Amino acid sequence: MTDDSHIFVIFGASGDLTKRKLVPALYSLFVQNLLPEKFALLGVSRTKYSDDEFRKLMQQGIDEFNEIDDNSRIDEFVEKLHYTNIQFDDVETYHSFKKRLENIRSEKGIASNTIFYLSTPPSLYGLIPQQLAKVDLNSNKDGWKRLIIEKPFGYDLESALKLKDSLLNDWKEDQLYRIDHYLGKETVQNLLVTRFSNGIFEPLWNRNYIHHVEVTSAESIGVEKRGGYYESSGALRDMVQNHLLQVVALTAMEPPTSLDAISIRNEILKVFQSLRPIKKNEVKSNTVRGQYVSAHIKNEEIPAYRDEKGVSPDSTTETYAALKFYIDNWRWGGVPFYIRTGKRLPTRVTEVVIHFKETPHFLFSGEHGNNGTNKLVIRIQPDEGILLKFGMKTPGAGFDVQTVNMDFHYSDLSNQRIPSAYERLIYDAIQGDSTLFARTEEVIEAWKFLNPVLEAWKENKIPLHGYPAGTWGPETADKLIECKEFAWRYPCKNLSDDGIYCEL
Ligand code: BG6
Repeated sequence: MTDDSHIFVIFGASGDLTKRKLVPALYSLFVQNLLPEKFALLGVSRTKYSDDEFRKLMQQGIDEFNEIDDNSRIDEFVEKLHYTNIQFDDVETYHSFKKRLENIRSEKGIASNTIFYLSTPPSLYGLIPQQLAKVDLNSNKDGWKRLIIEKPFGYDLESALKLKDSLLNDWKEDQLYRIDHYLGKETVQNLLVTRFSNGIFEPLWNRNYIHHVEVTSAESIGVEKRGGYYESSGALRDMVQNHLLQVVALTAMEPPTSLDAISIRNEILKVFQSLRPIKKNEVKSNTVRGQYVSAHIKNEEIPAYRDEKGVSPDSTTETYAALKFYIDNWRWGGVPFYIRTGKRLPTRVTEVVIHFKETPHFLFSGEHGNNGTNKLVIRIQPDEGILLKFGMKTPGAGFDVQTVNMDFHYSDLSNQRIPSAYERLIYDAIQGDSTLFARTEEVIEAWKFLNPVLEAWKENKIPLHGYPAGTWGPETADKLIECKEFAWRYPCKNLSDDGIYCEL
């Protein structure tokens, strides 16, 4: 039997992600007996903590953010946590760090398998792996070594290529696990199962029957305490380059030959390679960017993005992005894809909507809003599930048609807990399964696709629309969808009486 005992090292362990997501996810795996018996976690940061101080902080994190309904084993789990501080740019401190690893290993009888999780500012993604290589901690010779990297993988195409070269200088592709937490979401993976385990969808899943595809990822929160980070990112880098393009890829990919990492990631890559670049002179007509301005919602004054902490008062960073683009291949030729994301929208919802074409000849009156089209809504969050909208006869005289729903909610599957994305992805990385992690070429292709948009936006060549917090973003985004019979599922103009909330 292979020895899967290992040390899980988190660089940037004093940060928020460790406390909110990573340690609670590891605790959850521990409670389900999904961690090896011999396991230790070593937190690493610049801040000085003793093991005990670190354990106390993590214990608070588990108490507050625990996703599993069992607190009984927290004490046993935190015993496995350790901490050491480091100067990231000083190779000498990596020698002491390596000694600490070796001491924990020999004390606990753990093999030299190690996962290094980079939860640091992205500026350190090149440096830390290089330093680890200098002290020979990248070598698989006496036990596997894996590197998990949080997004963003680069800031633009140029920096992503640099990061790629620097990582691949010392590490092999199969040691790299680039986390995109959307791929860890149960409902994102369910895209594959819905498409490829049901005979009824696949024959319709192409340009012959689909009018357009919509991916919406709305957040009701603003930038919270992350104004500083968000200023240098914006919606396009923060959500589109990674999460939303991965969702598009799973929606659009060809059936893989099997479920292994190579087959699935090959198909994802082909989608990225087929994205038709938006040329600089097309950016104005194919993209919309916006930034939220202040608004009163339910008697509360919501500050404008420019008034958030860490944000410049004349910031041109977008908090909303919408794009129209095409995938140039046989399946999708001519089918527009519309994606949009934004902060401070009316609600939190992420969904893929397949808008089917109209019937060739519509016989019925559509007074109840049905015009012969169908929609398949794959709800990624919240209220995970699938909804099919179709026409039914309105009871009574005549042949009036109304739209009704066939609606499945994951919550109807009783006793089935949905693991958090981090729990699933960390587990996969421990198992050495990279299927749900982004491969280098995918990341590079995604940057290639977005680079002209990023450049045009940076040059301020297209308007930055203000939208009141709590609305569905700039109305111009409605105009991206040219056909009047079709619209986003929640169009920007569909406001309720008070002008703020949409009817969901
Ligand atoms: C993160 C972004 O990657 O994803 C955040 O940096 C965003 O800005 C978050 O809020 C959204 O994730 P989720 O799982 O809440 O949809």
